[in-house]
This record gives sequence, C-alpha cells and structure tokens, in this order.
Amino acid sequence: LRESFERELEAAKNSEAVEKLRVAYLGKKGSVTELLKGLKDVSGEQKKEMGQHINLLKKQVEEKIGAQIEKIKAAEEEALVASAEQYDVTLPVTEAEGSYHPITLVQRQLEEIFASMGFTIEDYSEIVDDYHCFEALNIPKHHPARDMQDTYYLENGQLLKTHTSAAQNAIMKKYGAPLRAIFPGRCFRNEATDACHENTFFQMEGIMIDKNISISNLIYFMKTMLSEVFERDINVCLRPGFFPFVEPGFELDISCLICGGEGCPSCKNSGWLELCPCGMIHPNVLTAGGIDPEEYTGFAFGLGLTRLVMMKYGVKDIRDLNSGNLKALSQFRHE
Ligand code: PHE
Repeated sequence: LRESFERELEAAKNSEAVEKLRVAYLGKKGSVTELLKGLKDVSGEQKKEMGQHINLLKKQVEEKIGAQIEKIKAAEEEALVASAEQYDVTLPVTEAEGSYHPITLVQRQLEEIFASMGFTIEDYSEIVDDYHCFEALNIPKHHPARDMQDTYYLENGQLLKTHTSAAQNAIMKKYGAPLRAIFPGRCFRNEATDACHENTFFQMEGIMIDKNISISNLIYFMKTMLSEVFERDINVCLRPGFFPFVEPGFELDISCLICGGEGCPSCKNSGWLELCPCGMIHPNVLTAGGIDPEEYTGFAFGLGLTRLVMMKYGVKDIRDLNSGNLKALSQFRHE
C-alpha cells in the first residue's frame, strides 16, 4: 500500500490530483481508513502491533500529502509570476506620457515666487514629535488639537505632522534671525473624508522674521504672491482668527475669483473667499526658537496648498487630487 501511495503521489502534479489522492487514502472510505476499521476483527497482541503500524503509515501519508501541496502551491505561484506581463525598461520612450500633479505645479510656482522675494525653501520630516508639533508652538497640553481624534499618533510616541507649522522651531534654530523661509509639506489629520476634507493634504508654511516686521509686511507679501498665482490683481482682507502660535492671528480672505468682489453665488454674495490663516508670530514661539522677541518680530502663514489648487483649477472634490486617477490628473499639463 505504501509503495502504491508513493508512486501515485509522485504522479500527482496539481492540487486537484493531490486532493483526490488524499480522499483515496485518508477519506472516510480511503484505504488507510479501511485498514484501521479492519482492526476490530483482529485480537490481542496482534491488534496492538498492527494498530501502531497503521497509525504510523497514516501519519506518514498525511505528512507527505501536506509537503506535496506546499510544493505544488509554490510552483503554481512561480508560474503565475512568470506569466505576468514583462516590461523591457530599456526600451526608448516614444512619447512623454507623464504630467505633473496639480499640487506639484502650484507648489513649484509658489516656490519660484517666494525665492524671487528672498525666501529659502525648506524640507521637513512628516514624522515629528509632540514638542515640534505642539509644545514649541505654544499649544498647551490640554489643547484639543492634541486629541487622538485629530492626530495620528505612532506606536513609538511620535506623530504624523498635523500642520507645516511643526517645522517652525527647527528652522528658527537652524538659521536664527533675520529669516525668510517657506516650507511646503504633507500633513495628516484623522478626519472623515468628504468633498472638502481629506486625512492627507498639503500646506505651505511661510515665515519672515526681522526687525520691525509688521502686519503691513504680511499683507504686502500675501497680496503680491497671490496676484502672481492667480495671474490677476487680488485684494486681501484680514479677519481675526485664533491660533496659539500667533498673536494677533487672522484668517486671510481674497477677493472672489469669479466676480472680483461684486458678490456672486460662489462667494455667497460676500465678494470674499476664505484662503489661509496667518498672524504675527507669538513671542513664546520666537523664544522657543532661540530668537529674542524684544529685538525681532515676524509673521507666519499656513497656506492650504490643496485648497489653493482646488480654487485655482476649480476642482470640486478634494478626493480627486489623491485619487491617482491619471485621466483626471493629466488635464493639468505644464504650460
Ligand atoms: N498651522 C495652522 C493650521 O494648520 C495654520 C497657521 C499657520 C495659522 C501659521 C497661523 C500661522 O491650522
């Protein structure tokens, strides 16, 4: 019986054949099972000896079938990989198919504008610690922004940065004052997604620190920069807004892109569209960054890059931007 089993196992080349074999030997009416059943007609010492024998056989048959199944599975997977599409990466490209993501396009445009105004462009990690994201920004321990509801905490106690402001402290320490820098980056917040909200989005932070920097500098830079982005004269307007790391803090609105300020459905007849939070950097934040607030002042803004892209290109659903839908995204070709 053992010999015939091994011969048949050798011949079973796919999982169905092995399964058939398993039933034939170990199934309810399988030959090994029949042998075990036959034991009831044997008596005494002989029964014990034969029982051990048959059970050993049963175990071996089970093990061999298991091993054969593993072998076949591996071979089948290998065949699947081999039959997958093959690409020759050395083939010459006949036509450039790619296009930049609209966020990349706007980010680069902003970088160019700010670089021409003397700002450096800084890169910063997406994984930060509590100190940089909150503590150094004058955000107290009990502030709701630290809630698990909003922040993705990692197992090691670090977190995914919830705003580009998380880089302020490190950049102040790196350069000291005077300082002009922008830092674009990807931010994460634990939010339910809909047409206007995403858990992953892009911001561009800007800070300018020098002697005698005032709100009028902030207004001037924002107006100049936005007029270039939208390729037309943009008016800005400040409303009070609260952020622990600026004092005073503002919400900056721009004149409506559709009606230019007359009032239309797109700006709910107000003539203004909300664009970005900003303000004068809080003295505590300057101090934490090693800059003397008695000597220097500065402004900061947190431009929502994703939001800006939606406004500039009239994108209605934020989810389109993260979708990886190349057909939708390739509309935004670089001029
Ligand atoms: N970091 C703030 C946010 O994402 C925005 C902000 C930046 C506000 C700079 C003021 C100054 O909500």
